[in-house]
Amino acid sequence: MNILLADAQATLRLGITLGENLTAGSVILLQGDLGTGKTTLVQGIGQGLGITESIVSPTFTLINEYTQGRLPLYHLDLYRLEPSEVVALNLETYWEGVEVMPGIVAIEWAERMPYKPDSYLSMVLSHGDDGTRQAKITPFNCTIHKFIPSI
Ligand SMILES: Nc1ncnc2c1ncn2[C@@H]1O[C@H](COP(=O)(O)OP(=O)(O)OP(=O)(O)O)[C@@H](O)[C@H]1O
Ligand SMILES: [Mg+2]
Repeated sequence: MNILLADAQATLRLGITLGENLTAGSVILLQGDLGTGKTTLVQGIGQGLGITESIVSPTFTLINEYTQGRLPLYHLDLYRLEPSEVVALNLETYWEGVEVMPGIVAIEWAERMPYKPDSYLSMVLSHGDDGTRQAKITPFNCTIHKFIPSI
């Protein structure tokens, strides 16, 4: 399903809807070129979860954890990593939620992942015409139809 995101507010609002509705253990894999709005979307998810702390890109820290909202938010950015380095991160720790409290896992530059969870929401962001953005949303073994009926 393709969604037109006319401006940054639209990206934020889509994230808020996800943050308000997603259940613990949800994984969102974000792909797309530099500056297509991946971090903006995660900022929306944070708002929807009720996190008031500002959400900043974890490009250097790899992962930021926010525990203030309805569910924990684990925000990762794999931009600087090779797939072999991604393996060493044991990402499944976050979506299995055994060693950490189950929450929402949002991963930027998910194209760097050599393996994926059994269920996840794929979001591919791209530049449209006139500075707009597009999101191609594909649920894998999960559904968001209840709160985004078009998907
Ligand atoms: N739908 C949109 N339309 C226009 N501008 C947008 C849209 N969504 C986000 N932006 C703007 O694009 C810029 C880059 O956004 P953002 O940092 O979220 O992208 P990113 O994909 O995380 O980038 P990076 O690849 O560097 O991590 C920001 O100024 C943001 O406000
Ligand atoms: Mg980013």
